[in-house]
Amino acid sequence: MEVLLGGLKRLEYRGYDSAGIAVIGPDGTLDMRKKAGKLQMLVDDLDASPVTNGSTGIGHTRWATHGGPTDENAHPHLSDGGRLALIHNGIIENFSELKEELLLEGTVFASETDSEVAAHLVARAYRETGDLAEALRVVVKRLEGAFTLLVVHADQPGVVVGARRNSPLVIGLGDGENFLGSDVAAFIEFTHRAMAIGQDQLVTITPDAVAVVDFDGNPVEATEFEVTWDAAAAEKGGWSSFMAKEISEEPEAVAKTLLGRAVDGAVHLDDLDPIRERLLTVNRIIIIACGTAAYAGILGKYAIEQWSRLPVEVELAHEFRYRDPVLDDHTLVVSISQSGETMDTLMAVKYAREQGAQVLSICNTQGATIPRESDAVIYTHAGPEVAVASTKAFVAQGTALFLLGLHLATLRGTLSSEAIADLVDDLKAIPEKIERVLETGDRIKTLAGWMADTRSVLFLGRHVGYPIALEGALKLKELAYIHAEGFAAGELKHGPIALIEPGQIVFVIVPSPRDPRSLHPKVVSNIQEIRARGARVIAIAEEGDAAVLPFADEVLHIPLASPLFEPLLAVVPLHIFGMELAAAKGLDVDQPRNLAKSVTVE
Ligand code: F6R
Repeated sequence: MEVLLGGLKRLEYRGYDSAGIAVIGPDGTLDMRKKAGKLQMLVDDLDASPVTNGSTGIGHTRWATHGGPTDENAHPHLSDGGRLALIHNGIIENFSELKEELLLEGTVFASETDSEVAAHLVARAYRETGDLAEALRVVVKRLEGAFTLLVVHADQPGVVVGARRNSPLVIGLGDGENFLGSDVAAFIEFTHRAMAIGQDQLVTITPDAVAVVDFDGNPVEATEFEVTWDAAAAEKGGWSSFMAKEISEEPEAVAKTLLGRAVDGAVHLDDLDPIRERLLTVNRIIIIACGTAAYAGILGKYAIEQWSRLPVEVELAHEFRYRDPVLDDHTLVVSISQSGETMDTLMAVKYAREQGAQVLSICNTQGATIPRESDAVIYTHAGPEVAVASTKAFVAQGTALFLLGLHLATLRGTLSSEAIADLVDDLKAIPEKIERVLETGDRIKTLAGWMADTRSVLFLGRHVGYPIALEGALKLKELAYIHAEGFAAGELKHGPIALIEPGQIVFVIVPSPRDPRSLHPKVVSNIQEIRARGARVIAIAEEGDAAVLPFADEVLHIPLASPLFEPLLAVVPLHIFGMELAAAKGLDVDQPRNLAKSVTVE
């Protein structure tokens, strides 16, 4: 029971409107508890009435799709007179017709979920085959959609069977014990040895053995990998929230992503070896991602285009897939995903490959599905990101995109080696500069305290400051539930300026006065225009930028860096601001309402 609850605690960030466990006792009984609400509700329930002691069990935290977050709809779902328990992550798209079939046979349903259908189907197949793995194999072949399924049966203490299609599942290899989890955080406390399970594969674990087969029953050789995260990295470690801890880790996220890849003034991306030849023939790049990862993508677009002279488009993954994009084998699709499990991004990756494009993924999670479905992967080494809203992953993704841009410029000869060396040195100095921005945290906290009653905040940025404006606004929406919008500053006069009225708070990300594009005076003029209409302006500007001082109500300074890299510094005060404003409003910064960390449904 403790092992299951510990694993669920570390996975709770993936979705958290209900939770449950089922344990098989040595006497062949199956005991199950499940509760709507946060994991603590289940823990309280188990304190009052513990489940039977046993060493085989399954546990689940749910984020509702079919059927609201109630006790009944929580997982596990039982069948076979309470002797079989099943948990499911994903959506079974053809569940209505399967449910119809079971209802005609007289099956009684206890929930409104699509998942319970799978429990009854496996129970029926088990009655026919007498073998749990075979029963699950027969059933998964009939399911459409996305699923990870885990099943236990009271007849088979010591056996857990799992299957996956388009949803995550990883094996943890222990000593006399084995584990299954949606990601390695579930079992990191017990083992660092892991195996990824491929698409359409089924696994049976016992304390001493692991067997993987495909959905046709053919044995599959799964490859082992070493997990480099430690258990402490997945814990809060003294911070008030995971988000506070993760923002404090932004320097490290950049430094670790650069480790071994920016050496002696050059970029070394061995990660790209699998697509080395193809990279030489690429004539176009499309970046696909969702949310914060897509904003990192916009940052990447500016850098990659400027340095490599390759045209780059950035598109939300869920839009990309359904618009019939024009792709060929000279197109490089770059997907960005912290979790590596975002269904919209995964489906877009698969689609792009089907159309003949090469797919390179930037991902933070080893063994996740998106990297496994890609031709090559650049892992960001930000460490586990637990808070639902992404922070340190963003700066790591930006860093990985900068490395990619410099690598392409090296391959294509579009930048001199001196220019590359200067940029590499500048990039390596970013972690220490982020440390300096973090030192301004108390001032930002005070600002956030003053603004706890604010109902609307606008963010303006230009060029690489534009995605930072979008990111600042997203953080306020999702963390502090405040209406916030990010605009390209040049767009202001085309409409948004009508929103400015006395007292409106506007954050402005001011471009570097050293930037060759001369955007600085234009943005300073924008500040004057909105100030004249009563806006309260908080500027994020380079140290020593005196021109902005007379026009802003507050200036948050960031250290000087190469203008393309400054967004990695400018985003930090906005991450802190979002977190502190949510905290000032008494909100749960790690688990904002209605959101899940890994959006594994479309
Ligand atoms: C916002 C946030 C989301 C994610 C998006 C993609 O703070 O966390 O917008 O960035 O859901 O998630 P990944 O990167 O896991 O694909």
